Amino acid sequence: MSNITIVGSQWGDEGKGKIADWLASRADIVVRFQGGHNAGHTLVIDGKVYKLHLLPSGIVRPGKLSIIGNGVVIDPWALTTEISELRHQGVNITPANLLVSENAPLILPLHGALDRAREEARGNQKIGTTGRGIGPAYEDKVGRRGLRVCDLAHLDTLRAKLDAMLAHHNALLQSMGASAFQAEDLVAALKDITPQILPFVGSSWQMLEKMQSSGKKILFEGAQGMMLDVDHGTYPFVTSSNIVAAQAAIGAGIGADKIGYVLGITKAYTTRVGSGPFPTELTDEVGETLGKIGHEFGTTTGRKRRCGWFDAVQVRQAVKTGGIHGIALTKLDVMDTLEEVKICIGYECRGKKYDYLPASQDLQAELKPIYEALSGWQQPLKGVRKFNELPDNAKKYIHRIEALIGVPAAVISTSPEREDTVLVQDPFQ
Ligand code: IMP
Repeated sequence: MSNITIVGSQWGDEGKGKIADWLASRADIVVRFQGGHNAGHTLVIDGKVYKLHLLPSGIVRPGKLSIIGNGVVIDPWALTTEISELRHQGVNITPANLLVSENAPLILPLHGALDRAREEARGNQKIGTTGRGIGPAYEDKVGRRGLRVCDLAHLDTLRAKLDAMLAHHNALLQSMGASAFQAEDLVAALKDITPQILPFVGSSWQMLEKMQSSGKKILFEGAQGMMLDVDHGTYPFVTSSNIVAAQAAIGAGIGADKIGYVLGITKAYTTRVGSGPFPTELTDEVGETLGKIGHEFGTTTGRKRRCGWFDAVQVRQAVKTGGIHGIALTKLDVMDTLEEVKICIGYECRGKKYDYLPASQDLQAELKPIYEALSGWQQPLKGVRKFNELPDNAKKYIHRIEALIGVPAAVISTSPEREDTVLVQDPFQ
C-alpha cells in the first residue's frame, strides 16, 4: 500500500502534527479532507514551531504538493492569514505547492456569528465549539444554499447567491438577538479577498487522479478525532464532519480503495476540549499532572484540555468503526512519572455492563469506567527509538492496549522531537 490515511482515534489533539509531518516527509502529496480551521496541528522542525489550521502538514516541506480537498470548509480570510504567517516564517507557498479544491464550501463571517450566537443561547448546555462557523457552514452545504470556492470566480452572480443565503441566516441571527449581515458588505469583502485565493483553486480530484496513476504517495491527513465524528462520536457533542477514514475518499474525491493504510493517531492517555461525556476524565492530581506535563492546551483556542486515563473501549470502537489498521501511540513519555497507570476496559451504567460506548447521550453521561491497573515505568522515555529499549512496564502497557483494541501499535512516539519515534511497522509498506 503506498497511500496512508491518518485519523485521530479519540477526541482530537492526539498529536497528529508530529506524525503527519513525519509521514509527510516521505509522501509526495498531503491532502486535508474534512474539518476546517477548527483544527490545530503543531509541527516542530529543527526547533522551529509551525502552527497549522487549514493547510496540510506537507506545506512546510519543499517539493510536496498540499491539497485542501472538497470535504474541508474554507474560511478564505483564515486561509490567507495562515498563508501569510507561514510565509513570514520562511515557508514558500505558491500555486505550485498548494491546490485548493474548487468544490469546497466557504465559511463566511455569518457562519461564525451563527455558531457563537447558538452557543450563547445554549447557556450551560454549550457544545464548546471553536466558534469558527464550522457547523453552520456544513449545514449550508447539505442545505444546498452555501457558497463554494468556485463561486469566487463568478463575482457577478455572488449577490444573488448571498441574498438567498441571508434570507435564511438573518432570520436566525436576529431571532437570537444578533445583528443581521448586509449582502453588499459580504460581496465587497469577498471581492477583496478573491484575488488572493483564486490562484490556488483547481480541480483537486483530477490532480489526485493524475498523481495516483503516476505512482505518487499520498498522505490523507485527518483533523479532530473519531469521538467527534458527527455519526460515530459522542453526539451532539461532536463536530459537524465525518472523521472516519472513509471520509478521506469523499472529502478528496478519490476511490475508497485508494485511501491505503489507516493509521489511528492515539494518545497514550485521553484528553478532550469542549463539553460532552468523557468517562475516564480525571479531576484529581493525576489529571493535573497529565495536563501539565503534556502541555494540554488547545492549539486553536488555547483552552485547557480535560485529561483522563486511556479508554480502550472507546479506542476499540474507533478502530472498528473507523477502519483503523494500526495506531501511532503518542505522548507515552507524559506518563513517565506515574506510579500506576490505568486502562478503561468496560463501563457500568444503571446496573448494566457495557463493552462498547452506547449511542445515547443520556447513558454516555452516566457511564462509570471499569479499570485495570498496571505498574508505571517511572523512567524517562525521551530519546527511545527502538521498541527493545523501552522499559518492561511500558512494553506491558503497550501490549495490553494492543490486545484490548485489536490492532498493533505501528508507531510509538516518545517525545515531541520527530526523531524520537519507534517504528514497529512501517505504514508506507
Ligand atoms: P466545532 O468543530 O468548532 O463545531 O466544535 C465542536 C466540538 O469539536 C467542540 O467540542 C470542539 O472543542 C471540538 N473540536 C473541534 N476541532 C477540534 C480539534 O481540532 N481538536 C479537538 N477538538 C476539536
